[in-house]
Amino acid sequence: MNAATSSGTAALLEVRGLSKRFGSLRALDGVDLDVAEGSLTGLIGPNGAGKSTAFSCIAGADKPTAGSVRFRGREIAGLAYHRVAALGIGRTYQIVQTFADMTVLEAVTTAALLRHPHLRDAVAYAQDVLAFAGLADKRYRLGRALTIADKKRLEVARALATDPSLLLLDEVMAGLTPSECHDAVGLLRRIIARGITVLMVEHVMEVLMPIADHIVVIAAGKTIFTGAASEAVRDPRVIEAYLGSPLEHREIAEHKP
Ligand SMILES: Nc1ncnc2c1ncn2[C@@H]1O[C@H](COP(=O)(O)OP(=O)(O)OP(=O)(O)O)[C@@H](O)[C@H]1O
Ligand SMILES: [Mg+2]
Repeated sequence: MNAATSSGTAALLEVRGLSKRFGSLRALDGVDLDVAEGSLTGLIGPNGAGKSTAFSCIAGADKPTAGSVRFRGREIAGLAYHRVAALGIGRTYQIVQTFADMTVLEAVTTAALLRHPHLRDAVAYAQDVLAFAGLADKRYRLGRALTIADKKRLEVARALATDPSLLLLDEVMAGLTPSECHDAVGLLRRIIARGITVLMVEHVMEVLMPIADHIVVIAAGKTIFTGAASEAVRDPRVIEAYLGSPLEHREIAEHKP
């Protein structure tokens, strides 16, 4: 099933046949996915399926070997990272950047400079973003002094500071306690309410199920499922990709080879 045709609306992001080789390894081998404007789309798949590589190819951090990435109908595959960011795609990194010797405010200000070239304006915008992200009271803290949850929050704040219309979130809830996850979902809901479209990689299906409009599942670099989260956990191809046997939501969530 195709998300664009199933929802009946043109997709903000349309990825077709996205492929990426690292030497002889086919990390991506024909990924198709659509993200409808205003939606929250979940991207799941077993470890090594190619989720983070797909993000890097969409965001311009890696050049795809083949395939098409259309954003607002415009082909962006192979564009440099800063040009993709300027068009309105922000992303977080699965392995958080540390910003050990920068304050939280400095780290977010450097991201805000993309849209606000004058430092004073960038600082003011960064302050707004920090308030929105719930980090205002930690703005003078050094990156090294942050908890995992706040490092993840800082990643999201830096992406938001580039004023994206599409936000790619790569496992921003990994390693968080249930209460920290709850707070992170609150921030996600505020991001959606602000009109930002989200494509997120998340292993915890209990987190995705209530908030995702669509789920895309990739395995071995290929899209194997697009549809509702409740259907994904029952789809035979998805089940086989994870374990090769019937499983419940929690088992998908916790599977690590
Ligand atoms: N820069 C790279 N050079 C070589 N191989 C890479 C590189 N980046 C990723 N890979 C390989 O590409 C495949 C896909 O990796 P990727 O990180 O995209 O998977 P993932 O779905 O994000 O996995 P995880 O759930 O563990 O984060 C893996 O086999 C990985 O080892
Ligand atoms: Mg990954």
